[in-house]
Amino acid sequence: MDYKNYSDISFIKKGINELAKLTEPNRPYTRLVFSNEFYQAREWLHKEYLSLGLSISTDEAGNLIGLLESKLNTDNVVIIGSHLDTVPAGGRYDGIAGVVSGLNVIKYIIEKNIELPFNLAVYDYLGEELNSWGVSCIGARGIGGFLNKDILNRIDSYGRVLCQEIDKIGGDSNLLSGPLSKIKNIVACLELHIEQGKVLEKNNLEIGIVRSIPNISRHHVIIKGQAGHSGTVLMNERVDALVVASELIIYVNSIALEISMESNSHFVATVGKIDVYPNSATIIPGAIDLTIDLRSVSDIAREKFLDGIKNKLIFLEKKYECELHINDLAFAPYVEMDKKINLLFKKSCDYFNLSSKLIDSGAGHDTAHLARVAPASMIFIPCKGGLSHCPEEFAKLDDIAKGTAVITKLVLGLAKIN
Ligand code: GLV
Ligand code: MN
Ligand code: MN
Repeated sequence: MDYKNYSDISFIKKGINELAKLTEPNRPYTRLVFSNEFYQAREWLHKEYLSLGLSISTDEAGNLIGLLESKLNTDNVVIIGSHLDTVPAGGRYDGIAGVVSGLNVIKYIIEKNIELPFNLAVYDYLGEELNSWGVSCIGARGIGGFLNKDILNRIDSYGRVLCQEIDKIGGDSNLLSGPLSKIKNIVACLELHIEQGKVLEKNNLEIGIVRSIPNISRHHVIIKGQAGHSGTVLMNERVDALVVASELIIYVNSIALEISMESNSHFVATVGKIDVYPNSATIIPGAIDLTIDLRSVSDIAREKFLDGIKNKLIFLEKKYECELHINDLAFAPYVEMDKKINLLFKKSCDYFNLSSKLIDSGAGHDTAHLARVAPASMIFIPCKGGLSHCPEEFAKLDDIAKGTAVITKLVLGLAKIN
């Protein structure tokens, strides 16, 4: 069967292009959660839901939902979702492709007058990307009951309290102390996403069926040295926090490389965010804030890395006579995708004659949290050069259309409609 009969490429193109315009003008493509641009994107999605005739709501965790209700008067629901927020200077497809694809699936079901035995929902999961509170996947964690008071009460550097922002956008943060009751009605959570890696492109494959998503943790390191005059303090009298940070960053990179080689499984660690205080050319850096982002499919490898870092901090404290602290910011465990859904994904790919392969994700996704509480899985489509989280990120509309057809067929399979 031709996948083009199950997807609408001009509809997909329109969605991708319209959302690309909703960016910070001087920093494409930037649509940070809770920013004006993010609210505009939510308005855009609201209008799309309206024009499809869906029931619209925002749940307690601030997820924006468009629901096609089944005539069977059931609470069972199949969810197709991803995210509209981006990283700073990110791309046009990460998350966005999944939301637009979900809209296209629902549009197909409506246009073909298909009666489903379950409700079908499209979700914009609130704030998937790492935010200024040091947490990602706000909406998906909220559904699963994985947002605790410590996270919800965090205040970011602009003085914003996370739970207040969730409430402002229509959520109810007081009801997020456990999983949302709707999880018992979830038949399946599905997500299309760009691969953000090169496996599909290199192997000339059309669809990646995701097998697993790694554990992800982020750790905040504070280094306290001594600020001073850059012209007068002698070299042997300095406690330069940035010099200490440099040694730590090189160590993070080298121990991660070593562990990834010996564990022979996905293991990566990055220091991508660093704040220098006071950040002036004439002042010796007095303090540093940095974040270590760590992803691993193996808990043993993760523990080994964190032990190494803790020992390194003790060593650096002595060597430089400075103060070092490490705090855990966020954690998401390693999770495997639902095997039954993956079998159906394979069947859908075969139905359209699309080449596919089971693939392990390197990135985190909303579906990782949903898979902890409900049947869930996702598919990847190729993206150019594996590039993502940058403006060069690119996926072919045709590839999004292929993935959309696969998800549509899977929804029909779940409904036992052939
Ligand atoms: C999500 O984009 C992640 O950081 O993996
Ligand atoms: Mn994403
Ligand atoms: Mn992302």
